[in-house]
Amino acid sequence: MNKPGSNKSGSASSVRDFVRKMTKVGEDGAHVEAGLLRHIWAWIVVHVIAFKLNFIELVTRHRKLPLEKIGKRTGDVAVITGGARGLGVEVVRKMLQFDMQVYIGCRNIAAGNKMIEKLRAEGVDSGQAECLPLDLKSLQSVKKFAQQLNSKTDRVNILINNAGIMFVPYEETEDGFESHFQVNYLSHFYLTQLLQPSLVKGSEKSKRNSRVVNVSSCAHFGGRVDFADLQSKRSYSKFDQYMITKFMQVLSSNTLDRKWTEQGLPIHSYSLHPGVVLTDLYDNIPWLQLFSFCLPLMFKSPAQGADTVCHAALSPELDGVGGLYFENSSKQSPNPRSSDVDLQNKFWDVTKEILEGRNLTGSQSS
Ligand SMILES: NC(=O)c1ccc[n+]([C@@H]2O[C@H](COP(=O)([O-])OP(=O)(O)OC[C@H]3O[C@@H](n4cnc5c(N)ncnc54)[C@H](OP(=O)(O)O)[C@@H]3O)[C@@H](O)[C@H]2O)c1
Repeated sequence: MNKPGSNKSGSASSVRDFVRKMTKVGEDGAHVEAGLLRHIWAWIVVHVIAFKLNFIELVTRHRKLPLEKIGKRTGDVAVITGGARGLGVEVVRKMLQFDMQVYIGCRNIAAGNKMIEKLRAEGVDSGQAECLPLDLKSLQSVKKFAQQLNSKTDRVNILINNAGIMFVPYEETEDGFESHFQVNYLSHFYLTQLLQPSLVKGSEKSKRNSRVVNVSSCAHFGGRVDFADLQSKRSYSKFDQYMITKFMQVLSSNTLDRKWTEQGLPIHSYSLHPGVVLTDLYDNIPWLQLFSFCLPLMFKSPAQGADTVCHAALSPELDGVGGLYFENSSKQSPNPRSSDVDLQNKFWDVTKEILEGRNLTGSQSS
C-alpha cells in the first residue's frame, strides 16, 4: 500500500528524471548527446546571433575591398585552407588578381584544379595557384601539407585559416578529436605553428608584417571554453559546438597576436566574421532550404564574404596592428571573453599539451 505523500515524492523524482534526461551530461571521455533542453537552448542562441547579424548586414552598406588601394603583391605567397569551395574560391580569385602565388589546401585535388581552371577561364590571368592535399581531420595530413609547402616555398606572407564545418553530427577524427574541434580550431592552430618560420621569412622578404587570418563567425559570441569538457564529448550539441570552436578561433587569434608582439616577431593575427554568406555551409539546415528562392537577397554573396577576409589579409591600413576582429571589413569588438589574458594563456597551454601529447608539434613554438 502507498504511504501518504509517496505520490508527491514519486512525482518529484519523475520531474528530476525528466530534467536529467533533458540536460544530461555523460561520464568523462565517453560521447553523450546533449539533452533536448540544451539542444534547444543552443539552437535558439546561434539563430538569434545569426539573425541579428543578418539584419545588420541587410541594413548596412557592404564595404567593398578597395582594389586600387592594395596594388600588386607580386612575389608574395598566400596559403589558404578550404579554398576550393565556398567563399574560399573568391578569396583565391582576389589573391590571384593581386598577382600572388596561392597555395590551396584541399581534400579533393581534382575539384581544386577544376576550380583554378574555371577562374582562368573567367579571365583571372595573373598570379599562380596550386592545390596541395590537406585534410584537417588528420594532424598527420596537416604536417604533410606544411612539409610540402616548405619544399615549394621558403616564405609565406599570408595564411588564411578558412576551412570550416558547421552543425555536423558527432564524429571523431582519426586523431580521436570531435570534428568541429579539430577542423575549425586544433588543426588550424597546428598549421599556424608549423608555418611560423615561413611567415617570419615572408616578412623579411616583403619588408611587411606577415598576417594570419582566422575565418571565425558571429556565432563565436555564443561560445566559451569549458576546460572540463573541451570537446563537448560529455554533452554534445552540434549548435553549441560550432559556437564554441568559432570562439576558440577568436581567442587563439588574440593570444597568438599578443605572443608574437611580445616576442618581437613580425607576424600579426586577425579574426573575423565574413558575413552571412550563401554557401554550402547551410546544407545542414534543412528548414532554410524552404526559403532557397529568397536567400540570394538575404545573404551576402561569396565574393562579398571574401572582401572582409581580404581586408584582414591585405589592407595597408592594418600594417603594424594586429589582434583585431572584423565584420564587414571594419574593426568590431569580439566576445569580451576573448580578451581575457588568463583564459588565453590557460587555453594556449592546454592546446600545446594536447599537441605535445601526440609528439607532433612543429620545431618552432611561441
Ligand atoms: N557562409 C557563411 O555564412 C559563414 C558565416 C560565418 C563564418 N563562416 C566561415 O567561413 C568559412 C568558410 O565557409 P564557407 O561558407 O565557404 O563554407 P563551405 O562552402 O561549406 O566551404 C567549407 C570549406 O572548408 C573545407 N573543409 C571542410 N572540412 C575540411 C577538412 N576536413 N579538411 C580540409 N578542408 C575542409 C571544404 O573543403 P571540401 O570541399 O573538401 O569539403 C570547403 O572548402 C568557414 O570557416 C565558416 O565557418 C561562413
